[in-house]
Amino acid sequence: MNKVIPIAAALSETETRSLFSPLAEARGLPGRVYADPDYWTIERQRLFRDDWFAIGCASDVPKPGDMMPITVAEWELVLVRGEDGEVRCFHNVCRHRGTKLVLAPKNARQIACGWHCWTYALDGELLRTPIIDGPRTMGHDQFDRSKLGLVEVRSAVWNDAVFVNIGGDARSFAEFSAPLDALFAEYGPSSYNYQHPERHEDMVLDINWKLYHEGGLEGYHIPFVHPALEQPERYRIDNDASTFTSLTGALSKYKRLGTLVGLPEDTLDLNVAASEALNQGARIPYTICFITPTLIFAIWPEAVILTLLRPISPTKTGVRRNLYFIGDKASAPQTEPARKKYLDIWEGVTREDADYSAGVQRLSVQRDEIGVQTRFSPHWEEAVHMFQRRIAQRAYGASADLTT
Ligand code: FES
Ligand SMILES: [Fe+2]
Repeated sequence: MNKVIPIAAALSETETRSLFSPLAEARGLPGRVYADPDYWTIERQRLFRDDWFAIGCASDVPKPGDMMPITVAEWELVLVRGEDGEVRCFHNVCRHRGTKLVLAPKNARQIACGWHCWTYALDGELLRTPIIDGPRTMGHDQFDRSKLGLVEVRSAVWNDAVFVNIGGDARSFAEFSAPLDALFAEYGPSSYNYQHPERHEDMVLDINWKLYHEGGLEGYHIPFVHPALEQPERYRIDNDASTFTSLTGALSKYKRLGTLVGLPEDTLDLNVAASEALNQGARIPYTICFITPTLIFAIWPEAVILTLLRPISPTKTGVRRNLYFIGDKASAPQTEPARKKYLDIWEGVTREDADYSAGVQRLSVQRDEIGVQTRFSPHWEEAVHMFQRRIAQRAYGASADLTT
């Protein structure tokens, strides 16, 4: 982890120049960045330590005392809901001899280490160190409990997603999230019920985390791979060079989900932008936002779809998804079939994509060996190009003076 890769070695000048060429001529990132542990090490530092990234959901720990361990990019973290209702993130590491503290999701009033029973409050304070100085003792004067609390990680909740900045020195979260709030304002994101998600559990894919983004950032493959989805003629792309790239499309043949599952058409409510468009007979807008590196946050007419990536190693990534609906129908028993159907549709879409991404992963080293450089469709793949350039600049230190 402390190994530092010289930035000059991350991408060659030729690779940088060809990546930053105009879209129709550009060559994509070399295959090795999807498999080589050196690149994982760089990303772990630049993206998964020095900047904000999403690791879980506040709804994973709904009640005070709920705690959930999370292993992401080799960081061992734990989310804890305190007595005060606040969600906090700690390094899941005991201050005594450094064992992992919380091994499975649970609810408890305190966090007790299994090894020698050092016991912490839900806000991380070290409360007790039983028998530390022999039987029937509770403390030792060389152990100042006020300095031995759990190590807290800087965190913030945004539309249920818990973001962390492990290094602690990133820009403020308000600064990070402001362009995202502006992007989604027209949909009224606060109308969704973030307390009652439909969720599917983490599925582990044999891909580098970057390939999940690249698979979703273009509509080119939709007619070939997802016949049930509608391909827009063109997306509107919004791009924040340091944070996200989003695709906004509009549905021309919008069919409300209730009818697909034999329920009345208005089974689930629509967001404000969708209702307005429907009333005016206009196309229904939706936005899918790829927030580097671990969150894809999408607003569809009836649901927010939050897809969380959990990078495990250079070649393995966990993927889980929460869907949120609007108002009372988000939790009503009679709308449950429709909500589950929505979840199933998106799980199916993920599976339709999985083999293609895994194929790219398996061939990533070989394509460098045989000199195959990837290309971008100028009409469809501008957003993939933006994503790769963001990674090159933010993680691999691609120098601005080589870029156009
Ligand atoms: S390692 Fe946790 S109490 Fe000893
Ligand atoms: Fe896809």
